Amino acid sequence: MAEKKLSGAGLRGQSAGETKLCTVGKSGSGLTYCGYDVSDLADNATFEEVAYLLFNGELPNQAQLDSYKAELLTHRDLPEALKTVLKLIPADAHPMDVMRTGCSFLGNLEPEVDFSEQHTASNRLLAAFPAIMCFWYKYSHDGVEINCMTDEDSIGGHFLKLLTGDAPSELHRKVMDVSLILYAEHEFNASTFTARVCASTLSDMYSCVTGAIGSLRGPLHGGANEAAMDMIQKFSSPADAKVQMAGMLERKEKIMGFGHAIYSDSDPRNVIIKAWSEKLGQEFGDSSLYDISVACEEYMWDTKKLFCNADFFHASAYYYMGIPTKLFTPIFVCSRLTGWAAHIMEQRSNNRIIRPSADYVGSEPRKVTVISQR
Ligand code: COA
Repeated sequence: MAEKKLSGAGLRGQSAGETKLCTVGKSGSGLTYCGYDVSDLADNATFEEVAYLLFNGELPNQAQLDSYKAELLTHRDLPEALKTVLKLIPADAHPMDVMRTGCSFLGNLEPEVDFSEQHTASNRLLAAFPAIMCFWYKYSHDGVEINCMTDEDSIGGHFLKLLTGDAPSELHRKVMDVSLILYAEHEFNASTFTARVCASTLSDMYSCVTGAIGSLRGPLHGGANEAAMDMIQKFSSPADAKVQMAGMLERKEKIMGFGHAIYSDSDPRNVIIKAWSEKLGQEFGDSSLYDISVACEEYMWDTKKLFCNADFFHASAYYYMGIPTKLFTPIFVCSRLTGWAAHIMEQRSNNRIIRPSADYVGSEPRKVTVISQR
């Protein structure tokens, strides 16, 4: 998988440090976590195993996984003070702002006092994020104060049950688990780099993650799956999709869910989520959104040689699982927390404050004229 040409803007192509966690565009299908190909992990592991891998460097054996999952269960419930804060956030708030506030407020209640607590703080956020999202969503939209504990064993199943109140189907459990695996880690992407910069000042886990959520919120990063959903819902058919996309490209609009800063000809996560989206469409009994998405993919490749990134087919997959569009990016937070926390731990293990230089392009040196004479 070839990388793109170097270019100064956006630090593209420049190495900003070392990591043992991930490769992007270098080997296997194009994405590896601690040496394992993401497609292998999606087929043969669960999200909790991947979280354990990222936090500890090795996949767990059965006993380790059982004890890790038991620990995560103890971290699921939310403190009353956090529920009170979530209840104050209005229904029209941006859900990523809810996640940011939830993370930050939890850091007030249960601060990471020193780095010996970094695993506990990471696992706390990993287990609590689904409830932070769903408690706010159900309270602000339906006036319902949900129980933040479920009998679902996996984080993906737990999230779906918190959201719908019902036990998810096996297919939905599986797809959510795969989705969380695909989004878990992606080297020095913008939000992870934000987290590492913050970690390099020796700040605490909650501050680093809060900053990362802020970076992920932008439509050029995590927000693309929501934007893709908004777009494909406007297309009435595959033929209409092609006509409307032609207009968008003519107007030089960005098509969300396409293109990538590192991958040059495909995103290895796309083929995986695309296949699951097709299955979900069949189960749903109406695959038109999937068919429209395929038409978009073909059109963008044929006309611009632009390919779907991980976000594009996530839109239809999440739709088929009944997930409201505004929660798409917060799900990304629930997953990427694992990558962020792993990078924060890695940064701390061999730290030097991240402080690059800039090329100055401003005024020549000049003197201040006192204000009365300007
Ligand atoms: N729609 C339309 N045109 C696009 C495009 C898209 N999604 N992605 C890239 N391009 C165009 C660029 O405008 C650029 O055109 P130009 O040379 O005429 O200016 C050209 O393709 C090359 O862009 P590139 O260098 O590949 O993009 P980048 O590395 O600066 O940005 C992204 C990468 C991901 C930010 C960019 O592809 C994008 O904005 N995609 C949409 C948002 C998205 O899906 N984000 C999720 C990323 S996982």
